[in-house]
Amino acid sequence: MGRKILWISEETKAKDLGGKVYIVTGANSGVGLETTRQIIKQGGHVVMACRRTDAAEEAALSFTGLKGSYDVIPLDLADLQSVRNFASAFLGKYDRLDGLDCNAGMVSMASEKKMTKDGIELTIGISYYGHFLLTELLLDILKKTENSRIAILSSVVHAGNKKNRHDVHLDDINFNKRPYNNFAAYSEAKVANVLYALELADRLKDTGVTTSSIHPGWARSNFGSGGNFLTRLAFSIMAPLTRGMSDSNEEAAQTSLHCLLSDDAPSHSGAYFSQSSVLYRDRECKAGGWPMTSPNPNARDLAKAKEMVKQSYAMVGLER
Ligand SMILES: NC(=O)c1ccc[n+]([C@@H]2O[C@H](COP(=O)([O-])OP(=O)(O)OC[C@H]3O[C@@H](n4cnc5c(N)ncnc54)[C@H](OP(=O)(O)O)[C@@H]3O)[C@@H](O)[C@H]2O)c1
Repeated sequence: MGRKILWISEETKAKDLGGKVYIVTGANSGVGLETTRQIIKQGGHVVMACRRTDAAEEAALSFTGLKGSYDVIPLDLADLQSVRNFASAFLGKYDRLDGLDCNAGMVSMASEKKMTKDGIELTIGISYYGHFLLTELLLDILKKTENSRIAILSSVVHAGNKKNRHDVHLDDINFNKRPYNNFAAYSEAKVANVLYALELADRLKDTGVTTSSIHPGWARSNFGSGGNFLTRLAFSIMAPLTRGMSDSNEEAAQTSLHCLLSDDAPSHSGAYFSQSSVLYRDRECKAGGWPMTSPNPNARDLAKAKEMVKQSYAMVGLER
């Protein structure tokens, strides 16, 4: 029997998003592009926060004829000054923010460690620290906007397996004390994403801003398409073989759309939401859930989340 894909409800799909403003990071590709498309279809306005603005404009050609609108503002999450510039540009132009979709991310296909402009390991630098600074700089406008939401893309890989549950190494974010491993870096970054949604929900209760972390599914996007010739060859050989288990980008956008638009998501602020996914190592998780309990206890540890956030302020140079 095939697995059951979770789709947003007809009620969510029918909502008129006219007048509402959303930010989607990494909106030019994959899950972010399809999340953007559906919001624009429903009349919303999406600010596409992309490092390659030409790619964003090209992707946006496919929105022609849709009810809503878009704007492109450059954002490189691997450069904290670029994040600050994005936030100033956005705040100078808009007076509301209904949803912030922290979607952009990458996994390095190289075995050597790479760093952001600010000296943070690249994977967690983009996935978590760049989004952390962005979110903190936009909290006031989110608080001013009624029923606003923050959706944070994590991944099934944050869960690990019964023998190895990933955790964020706050004492060694940059892999200085242990050998670098690109997949470990990605898994830890994705634990940080789940923890940040949890911490924000706690900090923002009673403000009207709600949060979620997300596993989108196994998207047939550009994800992981970098790397050397052999990696790219392996990906292209695997793609048709895994088609039955993987998701279209539209399917992989459903969980983000549910978190950003449904009436139900805000009553589970801070929770983890997942598309069904064959990739879970824990059998009982494969059906996904909106929301579901992460099988990784390290991703449910609020005290750890608070410690991580406290350290993050110092790392990105923000006063608390
Ligand atoms: N694909 C999957 O199966 C899967 C599974 C679990 C979780 N996820 C998560 O889902 C999210 C979306 O991934 P996807 O599958 O849609 O992959 P994708 O097609 O590769 O899209 C990733 C997006 O992130 C952007 N990005 C990368 N580095 C950036 C930076 N420094 N600054 C700004 N934007 C940057 C990319 O921009 P460029 O186009 O310029 O590179 C692209 O727009 C990611 O957070 C990923 O970790 C994906």
